Amino acid sequence: MVLTKDYMRVQYLHVHTSTAARSFLFLLGSAREGGNTETLTKAAAEQLPGTVEQRWLNLRDVPLEPFQDLRHTSGRDHAEPVGNEKLLLEATLAATDLVIASPLYWYSVSADAKLYLDYWSGWMRVPGVEFRQRMAGKTLWGVSALSEEDPAQADPLVNTLRLSAEYLRMNWGGVLLGNGSKPDDVLADSAALLRAKTFFTSLPVY
Ligand SMILES: Cc1cc2nc3c(=O)[nH]c(=O)nc-3n(C[C@H](O)[C@H](O)[C@H](O)COP(=O)(O)O)c2cc1C
Repeated sequence: MVLTKDYMRVQYLHVHTSTAARSFLFLLGSAREGGNTETLTKAAAEQLPGTVEQRWLNLRDVPLEPFQDLRHTSGRDHAEPVGNEKLLLEATLAATDLVIASPLYWYSVSADAKLYLDYWSGWMRVPGVEFRQRMAGKTLWGVSALSEEDPAQADPLVNTLRLSAEYLRMNWGGVLLGNGSKPDDVLADSAALLRAKTFFTSLPVY
């Protein structure tokens, strides 16, 4: 029997989507509710099989204190996280797949999304958490809406997420981009909606 590339790919995806227990954490980072990023993220998430667990958190609902860099402050260890920080850390560690759903703000991720990423640096240093080891092998994805037509305007956001994933030895899922300014504009971006249909399911990364 000759196995074509397509056949093998279908088999590969079948085996991996049907057996692996997957759990997606969606982190919404817009400064408004119901924006284009959220709409596009939902369109992509709808395509995930029902067996894949989904948890959605709006970063505005779980605000973090300004991040403190204690790396070189003698006598001050990173304390065990409490409150929203603990909730976000535990949700992060429990997921196999992390989705940063952030609009493009000044060419990069929103301040809320960036603050969450800054906390990764602290979590790497909380004794006993082993953040680095536990992040390795998870998959990082991004979804973003921008008002400019040129997708290259989002390169800093894409690189921020891609390089952060690389730093923590995570798999890189890529970024789903959509165009829009006011809420629901992205529904007119038919190319983005088409990409959303296969975004989370087309990569053999798991
Ligand atoms: C603070 C801020 C900064 C923005 N910076 C950019 C930008 O650099 N490039 C761009 O194309 N659009 C920019 N925009 C437009 C938003 O990306 C666009 O309106 C997007 O749809 C907002 O996402 P949301 O609908 O998910 O909230 C900016 C909007 C705001 C509020």
